[in-house]
Amino acid sequence: MINSLLDTVLDRTVVAGYTNVGHRIRSRRWSSSDLPRMDGKVALVTGASSGLGLAVAEGFARLGATVRLLVGSEERGEQARAKIVERSGNGDIRVGLCDLSRLESVRQFAGRFADRVSRLDVLVNSAGVMTDERAVSADGIERTLATNVVGPFLLTDLLFPLLENSAPARIVNVSSGGMYTQKINVDDLQSEHGRFDGPAVYARTKRAQVILTELWAEQLADSGVVVHVMHPGWSDTPGVRSSLPRF
Ligand SMILES: NC(=O)c1ccc[n+]([C@@H]2O[C@H](COP(=O)([O-])OP(=O)(O)OC[C@H]3O[C@@H](n4cnc5c(N)ncnc54)[C@H](OP(=O)(O)O)[C@@H]3O)[C@@H](O)[C@H]2O)c1
Repeated sequence: MINSLLDTVLDRTVVAGYTNVGHRIRSRRWSSSDLPRMDGKVALVTGASSGLGLAVAEGFARLGATVRLLVGSEERGEQARAKIVERSGNGDIRVGLCDLSRLESVRQFAGRFADRVSRLDVLVNSAGVMTDERAVSADGIERTLATNVVGPFLLTDLLFPLLENSAPARIVNVSSGGMYTQKINVDDLQSEHGRFDGPAVYARTKRAQVILTELWAEQLADSGVVVHVMHPGWSDTPGVRSSLPRF
């Protein structure tokens, strides 16, 4: 009760909740040494070549999991793999190429993945983009929407059978508190009308991830697969440095 009240107060103040102040206060209540080992578990992390995805993948590796890194670039993926192996001492880390903004690439990745692993205990959808200008994917979908929502939607949907067969299993969607600044606009999901405002379009995709999480949670209610959505706090990552340099 007190913890939940404290969380609400921290979040309402925004700065106290999302900066390292919030992290410092909240982390008094838990320690990373309390985390259970993940030996024998398989985790798939998207956007694992950089920022939060890389940190999450390294965390799973340290706990002994078999970790699969979904990456958009082979070179950056291999660099991430080498870094994780060196830092965690866990050699069971592999890289899989996929452009989440392309439906065909997602289908191919999911097919290969399901052929190669016999279980999937944790899926973390961390990959994400924010763009300055409107661009469309090969499927004609606005790029932020394609990468942050449509690709992860298809990937997760295709991996449901594997997750269900591995239950209890977990899906974690990495959204953003930025979503509070925008409503979803179902009449213009492709952001075709008006001036293209990158941060606003990004925020709407982050809200869409929260809506999707609620729908998946309902759909998977009795399956043993739990779906979470979270805001990671403001983190100094390559993505933030390039898309919001002044922030
Ligand atoms: N950092 C923050 O303060 C913050 C706050 C709120 C929410 N978030 C969320 O946290 C998640 C991670 O962000 P981050 O800050 O760690 O950013 P980041 O450093 O830019 O990492 C994003 C990752 O997504 C990958 N990616 C982008 N487009 C892709 C595509 N089409 N196919 C496959 N992978 C793709 C990138 O791969 P490449 O590098 O190879 O392109 C990169 O590995 C995002 O969903 C973001 O919305 C971050």
